[in-house]
Amino acid sequence: MHFAVSVDGFVAGPDHDMRFMQRTTVRDGLHREYIESTGAILAGRNGFDSAIGDSRPYGGAWKGPIFVLTHHPEDAQPAEDITFLSCPVDEAVRIALAAALGKNVEVFSPTICAQLLPLGLIDEIDIHIVPVLLGDGVRLYDAIGGHPLHLRRDSDTPSRTVDLRYQPIRTTSGK
Ligand SMILES: NC(=O)c1ccc[n+]([C@@H]2O[C@H](COP(=O)([O-])OP(=O)(O)OC[C@H]3O[C@@H](n4cnc5c(N)ncnc54)[C@H](OP(=O)(O)O)[C@@H]3O)[C@@H](O)[C@H]2O)c1
Repeated sequence: MHFAVSVDGFVAGPDHDMRFMQRTTVRDGLHREYIESTGAILAGRNGFDSAIGDSRPYGGAWKGPIFVLTHHPEDAQPAEDITFLSCPVDEAVRIALAAALGKNVEVFSPTICAQLLPLGLIDEIDIHIVPVLLGDGVRLYDAIGGHPLHLRRDSDTPSRTVDLRYQPIRTTSGK
C-alpha cells in the first residue's frame, strides 16, 4: 500500500484531482528505490480512468505490469502494459505477485487496500506525507463502521506517535 497523502489523510482531492502533488519535492533517490523494488502494480478502475490511463507511475520511469480491477472490463480503453482483471481481490493479488517475479506489488487503490487489509494481504502501509490540507477527496482508508486497525512503525515502539509540526503558508489568492 503506497501513497502520497495529505496531512488530513487524502490521496486525491475531489474528482480524483492529483494537483496537490505538483508542488512537492521528495528526497534524492526515493523514486529510484521504489522503481527498483516494484515488480507489479495493482490499481482500481477510478485510478486508471483518472490517472494511469494516460500517464504511468513514477513519471514513466518504472516499467512493468499494471493490473486494474474492474467489474466492467469491456468498456475500458486498452492500454500498453495494462491488464484488466475482473476477479476476487485475493486472486488479483496472486496474479500480480506472480507477475512481480519476487519484487513488491504496489497497491495504488485505497478501495482495494481496504478490501485487502482485513484479508491480511497488505504487508506494509508506505506513505509520504505531503504538506497540504485538502479537506475533501479520496481518503487513504475508508471503512464505514470499521474498527481501529493498530499499526507499528518499523522497529519503533508499537504505540509511539510521530510528531510533525507545520505552519500554514499564507498566500493572497488563498491557493
Ligand atoms: N496519492 C497517491 O499516491 C495515489 C496513488 C495511487 C492512486 N491515487 C488516487 O487514488 C484514487 C483511487 O480512487 P478509488 O480508491 O476511489 O478508486 P479505485 O480503487 O481506483 O477504483 C475503484 C474501482 O475499482 C474497481 N474495483 C475495486 N475493487 C474491485 C474488486 N474487488 N473487483 C472488481 N473491481 C473492483 C471498481 O471499478 P468498476 O466500477 O469498474 O467495477 C471500483 O469502482 C484516484 O484518484 C487515484 O488517482 C493516489
